[in-house]
Amino acid sequence: MYIMGIDTSCDDTSVAIIKDGFQVLSNLVSSQHDIHQRFGGVVPELASRRHIENIIPMIKLALKEARIEKEDIDVIGVTYGPGLIGSLLVGLMVAKGLSFSLKKPLIGINHMEGHIFGAILEHRELHPPFIALVVSGGHTDLVLVKRYFSYEVIGSTKDDAAGEAFDKVARLLDIGYPGGPAIERVAKIGHIDYNLPRAIPEGFDFSFSGLKTAVSRLLKEDIDIPSVAYSFQEAVVDVLVEKTIKACNTSGIKRLAISGGVAANKRLRERFTEESQKNNIKIYFPSISMCTDNASMICCAAYFRYLAGHKSDLTLNAESYCGYPNG
Ligand code: KG4
Ligand code: ZN
Repeated sequence: MYIMGIDTSCDDTSVAIIKDGFQVLSNLVSSQHDIHQRFGGVVPELASRRHIENIIPMIKLALKEARIEKEDIDVIGVTYGPGLIGSLLVGLMVAKGLSFSLKKPLIGINHMEGHIFGAILEHRELHPPFIALVVSGGHTDLVLVKRYFSYEVIGSTKDDAAGEAFDKVARLLDIGYPGGPAIERVAKIGHIDYNLPRAIPEGFDFSFSGLKTAVSRLLKEDIDIPSVAYSFQEAVVDVLVEKTIKACNTSGIKRLAISGGVAANKRLRERFTEESQKNNIKIYFPSISMCTDNASMICCAAYFRYLAGHKSDLTLNAESYCGYPNG
């Protein structure tokens, strides 16, 4: 069974084809860093225009790499939200067109659910219930995955998402775009810990905007930029680790998946690995390229939803903001 997945939720044009739910035949991502770099963030209108240019060549390339014809596709999975509306619409319209012309089922996938399925795709033994920490450019969510397609958000950020904080701080430090990989790279040569504040809001929620303000204040002094990057990364990772491990211990659910772009951070992976061992928690990380946006995670979610009898019709619309899809 061949599933084609399409994700154009933000600035990456992603197309993938997987076989029988888990075998990745092609997983292509065309990033747009070149056009957004000089603005220090994604410019929505430019992103959707680039998606329009990219999407058909990417589909052709994905089919070629998977060595199949478009007629061989059995199911089409597509991200409908959350994300940038113009960007989402490009992937969605193309997916609907394919579904209609090939007479193959269409399944709309929530991007955040997709990130969770990125961990499932690479770890077949990962079954619900488990705790998922989804850390990306727009989200920082602690989710209890009770069953397949049954989600309870037990904590999320009150202000900036963790990835957003990485991006904004990298811009303050003027060290490049996207911010996460730039901070990780520069932090390696940081040698002073400026001991930046760790905000610990009630329950399982997060807050990163104060940390960003603390960095901007620090910049008024004579400081070592790599050490600021190092101190910032330590502060973000500390809070993510503390709250997430607490969520596992409190719920008694000792299986943890960590996904989304920030999960690509090596320091985060190192600290989570150490702490989960101490707390007897089994941890599941997607590989680095599966953490950041890609369409094979969308294929895997579509596979599970297809097997459960879910199907979308051509009225499926793009949604900028939407919660985790229960049911
Ligand atoms: O999941 P993703 O690719 O797109 C969204 O759904 O938002 O996540 C992108 C975010 C960006 O904020 C980026 O700076 C961050 O993930 N990121 C990282 C790393 N790689 C990407 N943050 C920290 N360390 C990294 N190595
Ligand atoms: Zn994402």
